Amino acid sequence: MLVEKPNNQISIIIPTYNESQNILNILKSIKENLPKNISAQAIVVDDNSPDGTGKIVDDYLKNLKKITNYTIEVIHRKTKDGLGSAILKGIQQATGDTIVVMDSDFSHPPQIIPKLVESIKKYQYDIAVASRYIKGGKIENWSAKRKLISKFATLIAKKGLGINTKDPMSGFFAFKKNILNGLNIDAIGYKILLEILVKTKNVSITEIPYTFQDRELGSSKLSMKTVFDYYKSVWKLYRYGKPEEEKEKRKSVKFLYKAARFYTVGASGFVVNYLISLLFAGGISDMWYLHANVIGIIASISTNFILNKAWTFGDRDFRIKKTMSQYGKFALFSSLGALVQLGMVYFLVDSAEISYPLALILAVATAAFGNFVLNKKFTFKE
Ligand code: GDD
Repeated sequence: MLVEKPNNQISIIIPTYNESQNILNILKSIKENLPKNISAQAIVVDDNSPDGTGKIVDDYLKNLKKITNYTIEVIHRKTKDGLGSAILKGIQQATGDTIVVMDSDFSHPPQIIPKLVESIKKYQYDIAVASRYIKGGKIENWSAKRKLISKFATLIAKKGLGINTKDPMSGFFAFKKNILNGLNIDAIGYKILLEILVKTKNVSITEIPYTFQDRELGSSKLSMKTVFDYYKSVWKLYRYGKPEEEKEKRKSVKFLYKAARFYTVGASGFVVNYLISLLFAGGISDMWYLHANVIGIIASISTNFILNKAWTFGDRDFRIKKTMSQYGKFALFSSLGALVQLGMVYFLVDSAEISYPLALILAVATAAFGNFVLNKKFTFKE
């Protein structure tokens, strides 16, 4: 989105779908209720309404006497892509530094526009919401069912997303265009205000009471899909801003995953060590058992190294050249682990008088953990 310089213009976004009976009247009423000393750009965003709403405005514009402080534009979209995305399209075309969003069916009275604009231009709020749910605001002619749906959706937004605005579901609001700079707006479904409230940080918000009057002409486009889209967008917004948390979670899962592989490799090393030591001390040769054990240890360190390099840390930088120095570090840490283990067992059994089996568990666990951490950090570093 372009960075807008402050100007003395407002852009009023009016999404339409099958509003042939309302559109010209609302455009006229908006003109009559414009704030003083300001120029306004009305942008009708029509989704190829089958009742010809878009064309009606086009024809009206052909015969309209041009006036300087009020222009009307129409954006024709090919298909019905939803209210939120229609509003976003309008915002992208807007040249005013202040945006007003409203329905075209008179449920949002144009008489409120000056109050919204005053909140932004004079009182310098970032967002002004025309609100049904603060003192002085109300809804007329909605069925009990529709009221319930609206209240429930509002409750979910407030509790689930931690929104303090009393009417975050309002489709009637104004804001400084530049608060959207750098934001990625998805505009799923109807509730673009909710998305703006969640995604903008440190913005000032005010609410202006108004009476929502259900439309007299045409019909609401609210459908099951709209409701479904609403939950989808709430879920997306709920996850918004949590990527850091997710990253941390992924990091700890990755750590556990690597540790599991490292110890599986360690267990395989134990088997290799055991079998090779036996093999050389009596199996294929009659080597002195300590010499055979040294061969067993070297063999297990080597197989452990190969498996860890290829499997446990297989996702990390692989360069043949580095392999020998890695092998050296791995052998060093393994030997260090063995020394720590021996030292700990000796101390725990002899000085702390802990039983040998328990001392062994503690020492093996400490050495194994240290081994893993050191090799992860230094031998196979990312
Ligand atoms: N371009 C376009 N595309 N316009 C649409 C679409 C669409 O897919 N769907 C609806 N509109 C237009 C309508 O023509 C109307 O001007 C406005 O968006 C609102 O649509 P309605 O279907 O009449 O909505 P509603 O009255 O049920 O709900 C309205 O009021 C609620 C309370 O303030 C909406 O503004 C809601 O967003 C709002 O929460």
